[in-house]
Amino acid sequence: KTIGDIQEPAGKRALVRVDLNVPMKDGKITDDTRIRAVAPTIRELSDKGAKVILLAHFGRPKGEVVADMSLAPVAPAVAAVIGRPVAFCADCIGEAAAGAVAAMQDGDVLLLENTRFHKDEEKNGADFAAALAANGDLYVNDAFSAAHRAHASTEGLARLLPAYAGRSMQAELEALGAALGAPKRPVLAVVGGAKVSSKIDLLENLVTRVDMLVIGGGMANTFLAAKGVNVGKSLCEHDLAPTALKIMAAAEKAGCEIVLPVDAVVAREFKAGAANETVALDAIPADAMMLDVGAASIETVKAKIDGASTLVWNGPLGAFEIEPFDKATVAAARHAASRTKDGKLLSVAGGGDTVAALNHAGAAGDFSYVSTAGGAFLEWLEGKELPGVTALQA
Ligand code: 3PG
Repeated sequence: KTIGDIQEPAGKRALVRVDLNVPMKDGKITDDTRIRAVAPTIRELSDKGAKVILLAHFGRPKGEVVADMSLAPVAPAVAAVIGRPVAFCADCIGEAAAGAVAAMQDGDVLLLENTRFHKDEEKNGADFAAALAANGDLYVNDAFSAAHRAHASTEGLARLLPAYAGRSMQAELEALGAALGAPKRPVLAVVGGAKVSSKIDLLENLVTRVDMLVIGGGMANTFLAAKGVNVGKSLCEHDLAPTALKIMAAAEKAGCEIVLPVDAVVAREFKAGAANETVALDAIPADAMMLDVGAASIETVKAKIDGASTLVWNGPLGAFEIEPFDKATVAAARHAASRTKDGKLLSVAGGGDTVAALNHAGAAGDFSYVSTAGGAFLEWLEGKELPGVTALQA
């Protein structure tokens, strides 16, 4: 059920879980993507006359009140995005919260303090969930990016109050369903990033779901080394060679083509502007490290994108944060964006560094969907159940 299914929302107290875990520097929000993502839900509920009570976490205060993890500075930022006032209350339960909610008029928006200032939020404590629920007539979860946490505000509340998905949650689930649920084939996954160890579950799941899997970034080195390539000083988890071989065997069995780099851009130093050269895989100097995939590999990735109807992307292909080792990530991202613009590709991206990499390439805007989620996107790609989503569907 979505917020469109709420019967007579006017006057009702809607507890709306949003993800306001935004990057902040010196008290200033440096990226308001997540605020913009939940704005449609807040506006829609407020327009319909509901009392909109926002619940969110900020950082990881571990159940303590930590001043610089207060959501107070986020309230004006939400107000600026939605174009209407947002009140703030310095606790999310108890008398203060009850008083602030009692003072609301229909259509008002109130942000409650960081739910993680209470230990029982993360423990999903029944009393804490009940204390939150006391301020609401219904619950809306619009925080897909926190749905991998079984916390009181993401899971417990859905079991205590009539529960609905917000518009951002709905959009995430629809986009992810289109990409891996019943996708248009062939499906291509591009997975990059530094380490295989953090993405074993992901790779194991993907090889059974997609037709082609491009592996890039530092994690490709572990696969290459497992195949006998001398990777020099490159980042490489040599002890994971058996895992890499197992994943390749599973892919072959499932009919998934694994696409590894065929050449590499190598340098002796990990720093912007470091002297570099493009070499074949059998010519990686012993004292050099691979920092990006080479030009021939970029052409291979582009050809795979051309041959795909659906793309799921997680992780950069090289050390995109230091130029010129951003080339492959930028080229592949732009190519996928242009295929999407031409209506030939459904492209979905998400997780940690990925959004930053696509923004860096100027390609995010043309992807079919860019998830706001980091860890939740990964867990979803791994095929894991997301407690926040499951509770909504119960
Ligand atoms: C995120 O930033 O990915 C979500 O807000 C979840 O935060 P967490 O990893 O601290 O639970």
